[in-house]
Amino acid sequence: MRLTIGGLIIACSALCASATAQAQNYPHMLDRMNEIRQHPGQTADAIAAGQERAQLCGYCHGRDGNSVRNHIPNLASQNPEYLLKQFHLFATGERESYVMEQVGRMLTADEMVNLSLFFASQPVTAQTAVSASKLGREKYQNFCFACHGEQGEGNRDMPRLAGQKKEFLIKALTDFKQGKSARANSPMVKIMRAVDSGDIEPLADYIAAMP
Ligand code: HEC
Ligand code: HEC
Repeated sequence: MRLTIGGLIIACSALCASATAQAQNYPHMLDRMNEIRQHPGQTADAIAAGQERAQLCGYCHGRDGNSVRNHIPNLASQNPEYLLKQFHLFATGERESYVMEQVGRMLTADEMVNLSLFFASQPVTAQTAVSASKLGREKYQNFCFACHGEQGEGNRDMPRLAGQKKEFLIKALTDFKQGKSARANSPMVKIMRAVDSGDIEPLADYIAAMP
């Protein structure tokens, strides 16, 4: 897979510099997305274009955004503002991920908008093989809900968590807890200081099992 992506990167290396510069203009992309969302016809066109481009993502995130790998996040039903913002963070290097930084370089600002609208429109499949944790529920409904919602639905650039992959959740929460450089500027780093390491797995169980 890395080879395939590598080939694509070389193929578009010159074009991509301008795409990355555009990608960094997050407020502009957000305005564009909000404008499109006011018109049902434009939204449908953007979703269709996003679906086509999403072929590039299917190997890892699933064609419909239901991830086919446990350490890779679902994108289906995620809030489009959050998806768009993560593209921006990957493009600027504020959020570090080798693969997603490469993927980001292949996309124009319009494609990022289209992809965000497409994945947001896809239903997320409920996780199996996770059992809702009572302790996790208690911890979650204690204060995580304030930003991520009682049902884990999130709000704009506060991500939806419900139905997310357990292994990805554990990795993300552990990285936040340890203040790893990959997402060191995230507000979650401070928040996780108040959470015991032992509560991470119960939290992940509860969140993954949320419908
Ligand atoms: C080779 C595998 C791979 C491919 C292909 C790939 N991704 Fe990713 N993506 C990942 C991994 C791994 C992460 C998690 C990064 C991390 O947090 O460490 C990720 C994270 C993301 C995130 C952040 C989601 C979140 O919940 O925080 C978004 C958005 C995203 N990818 C969008 C896309 C899109 C859109 C495409 C196609 C244009 C794509 N990715 C292609 C592997 C991939
Ligand atoms: C003050 C608001 C706030 C609170 C409270 C909060 N979060 Fe977050 N969380 C965010 C924001 C904003 C992000 C997205 C920014 C980022 O980290 O990339 C996020 C990101 C996350 C992510 C990464 C999701 C992804 O798809 O990459 C996870 C997992 C998460 N939060 C879990 C939790 C848990 C569990 C709690 C409670 C212990 C919690 N959050 C409390 C605001 C909050």
